[in-house]
Amino acid sequence: MSAFDAERFKANERAGFNRIAGRYLAAATARQALQQALVELAAPAPGEHILDLASGPCLLAADAAARVGDDGLVVASDIAEAMLACGRDAFASDDHRPMTYCAADAETLPFADDRFDLVTLGLGLFILPDPLAALTEVRRVLVPGGRLALSVWGPADAVPLISHAQACIARLLPPPRVPRPSVFRFGEAPVLRRLLADAGFGTTDTTDYRLDCRFADAAEYWQAFLDLAGGAAEAIARLPEAVGRKLADEVAHELRPCRAGEGYATSNRVLLALACK
Ligand SMILES: C[S@@+](CC[C@H](N)C(=O)[O-])C[C@H]1O[C@@H](n2cnc3c(N)ncnc32)[C@H](O)[C@@H]1O
Repeated sequence: MSAFDAERFKANERAGFNRIAGRYLAAATARQALQQALVELAAPAPGEHILDLASGPCLLAADAAARVGDDGLVVASDIAEAMLACGRDAFASDDHRPMTYCAADAETLPFADDRFDLVTLGLGLFILPDPLAALTEVRRVLVPGGRLALSVWGPADAVPLISHAQACIARLLPPPRVPRPSVFRFGEAPVLRRLLADAGFGTTDTTDYRLDCRFADAAEYWQAFLDLAGGAAEAIARLPEAVGRKLADEVAHELRPCRAGEGYATSNRVLLALACK
């Protein structure tokens, strides 16, 4: 088995999220309530300077920007430029949202020390090969007393939105030559709290959030997964068409426990956390 190559992994994630940027933005309405719950927890205030990391198409950043007023600023940052471009297209003409955009790797932030009052990081920490390095950077760019508000997926068996799709991939495709970090690895509150403490954060409050997603059929579920998981979408796009079709068929079988009326329903656990520098 080859050794994990963090730079190659990040390049694959970047390519994948650039590939799906438009579809990610369109599909994100299904997670709007989750995003609003994170903004409520973060409580952006007028005049604050905010960094939204792994911002994707900048939806969370735009919500925060609507609250900081003319004296505030939100910097939306992501490794995938096409994701940021979607946000810029959607919000650039909105004078009531003071936003700027910065393509960057969350593990090496191009910002001065003590620059932001608040950092938000929605569904992104688990994608980073070195989350401790990223959190150390977050702490560096926060003012003393600054806040970090983030969301991560819960444990695998509590996130059918992703775990059923991953189970199909694991059954049908050869194991990856290099294992990917699990998106569920911070799904238990004590693990997340320990990581934040290791990065030097003081108090951390965590709370559970339930994200319910319904699908008309298995194809809609599979498309929703591909529109959310950039790295997986990138790998699957490279497969022969017949294998892609087989995967879609396997999903219909796998999803049977989620049958609800004519379609499928998934209830997914998300962990929200608020930490202070
Ligand atoms: C699941 S999306 C979350 C987007 C958005 N925060 C949301 O809640 O919808 C994860 C994002 O992390 C970004 N990302 C992946 N690796 C990154 C890295 N090393 N540094 C910064 N962003 C990264 C991806 O490009 C993608 O936009």
